[in-house]
Amino acid sequence: ESIEKGGYEHFMLKEIFEQPRSILDSMRGRMIAENNHLMMGGIREYENKFANAQRILIVACGTSWHAGLVAEYLIEDLARIPVEVEYASEFRYRNPIVNENDIVIAISQSGETADTLAAIELAKSKGATIFGVCNVVGSSIARATDAGAYTHAGPEIGVASTKAFTAQVTVLTLIAMMIGSKRGAIETSKLYELIAELEQIPAKVEQTLKLDKQIEEISAIYKDVTNFLYLGRGYNFPVALEGALKLKEISYIHAEGYPAAEMKHGPIALIDEHMPVVVIATKDSSYEKIVSNIQEVKARKGKVIAIVTEGDTTIPAMADHVIEIPETSEHLMPLLSVVPLQLLSYHIAVMRGCNVDQPRNLAKSVTVE
Ligand code: AGP
Repeated sequence: ESIEKGGYEHFMLKEIFEQPRSILDSMRGRMIAENNHLMMGGIREYENKFANAQRILIVACGTSWHAGLVAEYLIEDLARIPVEVEYASEFRYRNPIVNENDIVIAISQSGETADTLAAIELAKSKGATIFGVCNVVGSSIARATDAGAYTHAGPEIGVASTKAFTAQVTVLTLIAMMIGSKRGAIETSKLYELIAELEQIPAKVEQTLKLDKQIEEISAIYKDVTNFLYLGRGYNFPVALEGALKLKEISYIHAEGYPAAEMKHGPIALIDEHMPVVVIATKDSSYEKIVSNIQEVKARKGKVIAIVTEGDTTIPAMADHVIEIPETSEHLMPLLSVVPLQLLSYHIAVMRGCNVDQPRNLAKSVTVE
């Protein structure tokens, strides 16, 4: 087993550090830019179907559902097709409206999640086209779908999903760009800018991983707290949910993720000098808004751990801790901003003596209801 861990103490840490490579593998050979269009190698025969879809439904569970939320922002913004993201477990039991012109994207690392499989069968029976985004080749979900794109992240052993998430987001970004370019919804200059940015993501993840020591030090300060709040806006909102889920799963600390603006509708009541608040506050279109959310937290003496874009000078003057990550397009930011949160949960869990790779009560794939 120690050989399989490749010198890392845990599979989870190995998998976090594999991300520059797994993200590259998930896009390798797939970005074919021709005549100002992005073609997606492997699924070219589905391009028209996607471009003509009236609606895209996304079904998934857990971390894969978070990747689905990122995809909602991407597809609606870049391709202008309405998207709905559903927990597979709710979708399957709520008599949903599904039409023949809908495309259902099922996202699953394992390809064996019972609720996601059942949601697929239901959508199929209503005539929708089902597209899978799976990691495990030949899995039940991969076999149940009409077509799909594997994420090629390699085996993920740690129960807490890390590299599978970033691979899912990469593939879903390509899909959004492909549909957007096919529908003419995305300007050519923006398309090429995004392609160039995406190509730089593996190197920028590598750079982000260098923050490991700093994150370990911050983890030591907060390892004994009982609650954490995670806030983000826009593309960083699903990342806030994912950061909170990672911490809960492996450290058993109660954590909640929220869209930052929702804080004043309830969670703000929780904030006092004992409450650490992780704010994902990178430079994007909602930057000014998130700066005021940080002020609201500080005014109530909350402890702010801010994930910011390199070179930011405003937030470091307000936050208790600042983790600087490289700059990228806001569309791609989840691929970078999730990495410090994975490391934070990992280090806190290790310091609390938890079984990081096999947390209590959890299984790698949930094959029963
Ligand atoms: C993530 O860290 C979890 N262990 C869990 O939420 C997982 O993402 C969920 O069970 C879905 O699994 P799947 O991607 O294999 O379908």
